[in-house]
Amino acid sequence: MKTYHADIVIVGSGLAALYTAAKLMNKKRVIILTKKKWQASNSYLAQGGIAAAYAPDDDWHQQMEDALRAGRYHNNVDETAFLARESKRQVDALIRMGMQFDRDQKGQILLAREGGHSAARVLHAHGDATGRELTGFVKKYVERQVIIHEHTQATELLVQNGHCVGVRASDQSEEPVVYYARNTVLATGGCGQIYAPTSADPAVTGDGLALAYWAGAALKDMEFVQFHPTLLIKNHRAYGLVSEAVRGEGAKLINQDGKRLLEGKHPLEDLAPRDVVSRVLFKAQKTGEAEQIYLDISMLDHFAEHFPTITQLCRQAGVDLAKGRIPVSPGAHFLMGGIETDHEGKTTLPGLYAIGECACTGVHGANRIASHSLLEAVTYAGTAAASMNTHTEQPIEKITDESGFRNVPPPPSKKEIQKTMFEYVGIWRTQQSLTTAVDWCLSWGIDFNRAERFDGTKDELERLNMLTTAWLIASSALERTESRGGHTRIDYPEEIEQWRTKSIIREVTKIEQ
Ligand code: SIN
Repeated sequence: MKTYHADIVIVGSGLAALYTAAKLMNKKRVIILTKKKWQASNSYLAQGGIAAAYAPDDDWHQQMEDALRAGRYHNNVDETAFLARESKRQVDALIRMGMQFDRDQKGQILLAREGGHSAARVLHAHGDATGRELTGFVKKYVERQVIIHEHTQATELLVQNGHCVGVRASDQSEEPVVYYARNTVLATGGCGQIYAPTSADPAVTGDGLALAYWAGAALKDMEFVQFHPTLLIKNHRAYGLVSEAVRGEGAKLINQDGKRLLEGKHPLEDLAPRDVVSRVLFKAQKTGEAEQIYLDISMLDHFAEHFPTITQLCRQAGVDLAKGRIPVSPGAHFLMGGIETDHEGKTTLPGLYAIGECACTGVHGANRIASHSLLEAVTYAGTAAASMNTHTEQPIEKITDESGFRNVPPPPSKKEIQKTMFEYVGIWRTQQSLTTAVDWCLSWGIDFNRAERFDGTKDELERLNMLTTAWLIASSALERTESRGGHTRIDYPEEIEQWRTKSIIREVTKIEQ
């Protein structure tokens, strides 16, 4: 079997993965493995930008308050304060490295307004192509020192004496490969693809979440899923995101008759936090108030110049921007929960770190505020790398036991998972819908509470990851008998104070290999 040895192996190739590699590469031998081309991530697709209290009259305390309010006060307050306090320092560090954010003619950084923020504080690059520019910049920065294995899918975390010692994977030709490492980092992003519609890259199928779960790491807050209000959807096909920054410039959500849908629904109206806007739109669709939702952009000048990515998506969808309306609908966008991590990105499984969307640091609470995902990625890449740079973990013995694998019972198709999740574990949830989803997940012959090792093709294992993540979300959502942020229970419509600081943890019985 092909075997590699590294100090650190990182799974995933979005901003969290690349920036962690950047912070480690001078001291450690780092290998990144990623299941498609390196660009296949949600970071690459990110439009809005990276939030920082950057303006002279802005203040990180205010940024923190906004994040707590958007997160419905379920956030880890210390980590949210840390993230907001760090924001300007992180952005300045990127600028010093050479990252170019958009500036005005006088050279001042341009700051956009997005949902939930009380000030304009979102830095962006090339208009609405911030993710592409930022990940491209960091990729260039690391590529001479860091080995990147593309088309290599992680299939299992290696655990020895209760310690994660690397990753088993399947390469481009579906040959098994083993990566031994002193520390393993999951930076695989969220799980948007378990829903349709979604803004997520096709590669984002909950892989890291499922790998961590089956290896015995704790997962937390999995019921909190963010639905972005404005996916460009035409004839039932999702073409991608229409950034909140468009509403930040003044665009309004309307129905087919031009009636404004957010007026009077929240003090911030169209710029309310995403959970609020998505719920209002979904209700308008369900009650018939909106047969079709549009983003009215008729008041915006120079749209194509400010939003080149969205303009391109509109072209692909055959939307004529001259008409001043973009057809939109809510879709799955971000997972607030994930693999439980501490301040340094350490999971509950020694040797294993998680960074970015797959991690749950607690900074997003029950609903992430706009443009805090790229910020989280760079900030916790820093704390995790500092920890890995200073700790030397125990020496690794080779794992020799290749027994104990069970062939994955044929999992459902991606389409079936996506349809089930949107219908039963979507924006509106009830005990009945969630029970239906949980029972459906269990009907595929897997006992999610008992640790097992699975073998199968890449495609089967990916669908198993999706099903596992679906079960984690549905079963957690069933347990949380209140509504908060990205978790709306029609049968428990209120926030309940006793639930505010409570988290649902999912942890399988650990196994030794
Ligand atoms: C957006 O641009 O609307 C999305 C950015 C984010 O997810 O924070």
